[in-house]
Amino acid sequence: MIAEGCGYKLDNIMLSGGVIQRRVSELAAEIEAEYRGREVIVTGVLKGAAIFMSDLVRRVGPSVDIRMDFIAVSSYGNSSASSGAVKIVKDMDTYAEDKNVILVEDIVDTGLTLAYLRDMFTARGPGSFKTCVLLEKPARKKVDTVIDYKGFTIEDVFVVGYGLDYAGRWRHLPDIWGVVPEK
Ligand code: PRP
Repeated sequence: MIAEGCGYKLDNIMLSGGVIQRRVSELAAEIEAEYRGREVIVTGVLKGAAIFMSDLVRRVGPSVDIRMDFIAVSSYGNSSASSGAVKIVKDMDTYAEDKNVILVEDIVDTGLTLAYLRDMFTARGPGSFKTCVLLEKPARKKVDTVIDYKGFTIEDVFVVGYGLDYAGRWRHLPDIWGVVPEK
């Protein structure tokens, strides 16, 4: 098996591709209803959100003037893990001031990344700011976060697929799997 050697293996499908796609369609319909006739910058957090966001925006009809942008962040490491401070590796190409922004994330785990990004974005004076998150894992939450459009709540299992990785692997899978140690 190609992915052998990272210490983990695929265990079970937690969310099938079909279930995910149905929920993504529902989220897109909510976004379409709310933003009809308006412009919104849908901004994905690389890399995990890339696949979710690409499916999401394709289900929002032409009545919404969608612009796409991306940011990339990296954690500052253990010393600032409790603060949740993140380094912006790639910022938006668009100015967010006075714009409607939807930030798209694949998963909220401790919530620290989303809390940090919310503060960062709101400081830029957007016209509106909302968050769209595919998965929330409440068991590991350290800070409260506001998720305006949420796909699923999941238990405390390490998950991969549909954009989510372990050591860079398995992002391409259409289903979301739980992984377990190989031995
Ligand atoms: C994941 C995810 C969030 C963050 C959530 O990113 O995409 O950005 O972790 O964790 P938190 O709620 O505990 O802050 P990751 O660092 O795995 O990068 P990736 O998106 O490139 O996979």
